[in-house]
Amino acid sequence: MHSIEVHNLTKKFSLHRGLFDFVADPLNKDEITSLEMINLQVREGEVFGLLGPNGAGKTTLIKILCTLSFPSTGAAMVNGYDVLKESRRVRESIGYVTTDERSFYWRLTGRQNLEFFANLHNYYSKKAQNRVSELLSIVNLEKRADDPFLSYSAGMKQRLAIARGLINDPKVLFMDEPTRSLDPRAAQDARDFIHDYIVSEQEKTIFLSTHNLNEAEQLCNRIAILDEGKIKVSGTPQELKSSLGDNSTLGDVFAFYSGKKLEEERPPKSSFMKEMRFRHRGGMGMGR
Ligand SMILES: Nc1ncnc2c1ncn2[C@@H]1O[C@H](COP(=O)(O)OP(=O)(O)OP(=O)(O)O)[C@@H](O)[C@H]1O
Ligand SMILES: [Mg+2]
Repeated sequence: MHSIEVHNLTKKFSLHRGLFDFVADPLNKDEITSLEMINLQVREGEVFGLLGPNGAGKTTLIKILCTLSFPSTGAAMVNGYDVLKESRRVRESIGYVTTDERSFYWRLTGRQNLEFFANLHNYYSKKAQNRVSELLSIVNLEKRADDPFLSYSAGMKQRLAIARGLINDPKVLFMDEPTRSLDPRAAQDARDFIHDYIVSEQEKTIFLSTHNLNEAEQLCNRIAILDEGKIKVSGTPQELKSSLGDNSTLGDVFAFYSGKKLEEERPPKSSFMKEMRFRHRGGMGMGR
């Protein structure tokens, strides 16, 4: 069975125009095409990666699949539900992990934030408290759970975002650049956690976006290369590399199909993740 199916999906945005432009030329409709005729299928239990540079359309596609935005044309099904006609069902069956810090309440603690989002998933009182405590333990944040979100490091914020995405025990987890703004060590720990806990232990289907070649290769069973709103090619990392011949890298594949080089992101200067690394203990805890 397919967890995600996308058919001929296109997304266009109208660009805002000033009043003067509108009066001067009311029929002129400036549009930007973010996604063009996207077709893809993700199998249950698969880790599927959208690999693409800035502006490729990764967030736009994830937002449509999470029912946060509408397609202009085309259709998409998630867990068997239509993203347009059955959006509530889709939302009940998915989790969404975004690095957008503005989606948290900065003055509330990590625990209060999670309890708020648990309420939105219809977890109340004791049930919400228990679920939140369990998740804080899973992402190794119990010790800082009662500190305000604004005092968290980038890595801690990201771990809280992952915990939030898991609140409703979703079948499919969408992760938009899950290691963005983490230092290399913290990014690797996050990838280990995703692989060891979310994929191997919890057996969730994951749809993630990244512009990191290593991340795509390490985590994903299959990859689609997205550039300028179009899927250039898709397949397993091995299939894609083999198609270009021996010793080819995923970077070569990206360059071949997009005509561009995908730059590796340079690690951030600060390394404030040292003491708060993702650590997977196995079972429900983390810490090595
Ligand atoms: N609300 C919007 N209004 C107008 N244009 C938009 C809007 N959202 C996205 N776009 C445009 O759609 C294109 C794809 O953007 P998107 O954010 O999906 O790319 P991305 O692959 O997620 O990039 P990044 O790696 O920087 O996050 C860009 O050209 C962007 O400017
Ligand atoms: Mg994005």
